[in-house]
Amino acid sequence: MGTILCQGLLRAGWAPEDIVMAARREDGARRAHELTGVTTVLDPAGAAQERQVVVIAVKPADIHDLLGQIRGKVLPGQTVLSLAAGVPVAMLEGALGNVAVVRAMPNTPAAVDQAMTAYCGGRLADDAALKLAAEVLAAVGETMLLDEDLLDAVTAVSGTGPAYVYLLAESLIEAAIREGLPHHAAAKLVEQTLKGAGMLLAEEHRTPFELRAQVTSPGGTTAAAMHVLMEGSFRALIEDAVRAAAQRSRELGSQAVAREVQE
Ligand SMILES: NC(=O)c1ccc[n+]([C@@H]2O[C@H](COP(=O)([O-])OP(=O)(O)OC[C@H]3O[C@@H](n4cnc5c(N)ncnc54)[C@H](OP(=O)(O)O)[C@@H]3O)[C@@H](O)[C@H]2O)c1
Repeated sequence: MGTILCQGLLRAGWAPEDIVMAARREDGARRAHELTGVTTVLDPAGAAQERQVVVIAVKPADIHDLLGQIRGKVLPGQTVLSLAAGVPVAMLEGALGNVAVVRAMPNTPAAVDQAMTAYCGGRLADDAALKLAAEVLAAVGETMLLDEDLLDAVTAVSGTGPAYVYLLAESLIEAAIREGLPHHAAAKLVEQTLKGAGMLLAEEHRTPFELRAQVTSPGGTTAAAMHVLMEGSFRALIEDAVRAAAQRSRELGSQAVAREVQE
């Protein structure tokens, strides 16, 4: 996610000299540099030094070690923007002291500047810090300011969201092949259908229900398909999946907090 965001910032017009990346291992640093052309170091504290915005893009399990590396090195006046799933703002503030902290949850369509990112600010995140964080996030898509207690749900809906769509795509392609379509045709039909339906949903300002009703004639083919999905508890399964993802986000956050408090 850090590399994707960096690439987006470069596309948005940031100069490579405006950004420094930090990696944990030589091969990671080499790969990040190859993908972005940005200086990549193995020293997060050095990378963060004197930067207006410090983006944290490690897994929740790695956050404790990273905070240990940058503690005392990130100073008031800098803004920390954390993308770590589940990790609460209060934990970052507790570890880093008097710095503005913004927590955000983007998603992988950031790679094509179509991310949906929700973010929230901590105690010291004033309008300027929020604006700065939003500017960084907006380089890769749309942003939405929300209360922190909603971010686990955001993680489950839009953070995880692309995976729901990819599973639907895989299932449709397999079904298309079983109906006799060659693989390349099945893949193209599904790919363009998901893209077109997504664009209609985003651009037509009609609800998903209205758009679905438009393609569902009484006694028709879509009605037959929808009946099978509803009978098979499609909605209940999606609800369960989103609940499980939100719960997992809370667990990852709690584990990160427990580790921070313990050590
Ligand atoms: N992927 C998504 O769809 C998505 C969406 C929204 C938010 N997020 C959040 O973004 C964060 C990163 O996710 P990701 O999928 O990008 O994970 P990732 O691919 O594992 O990237 C994290 C990178 O951070 C490096 N790292 C770990 N500890 C470090 C340290 N102390 N100093 C420097 N580098 C360090 C890791 O190095 P190694 O290669 O050595 O492990 C790895 O290259 C997570 O907290 C995730 O919840 C992800």
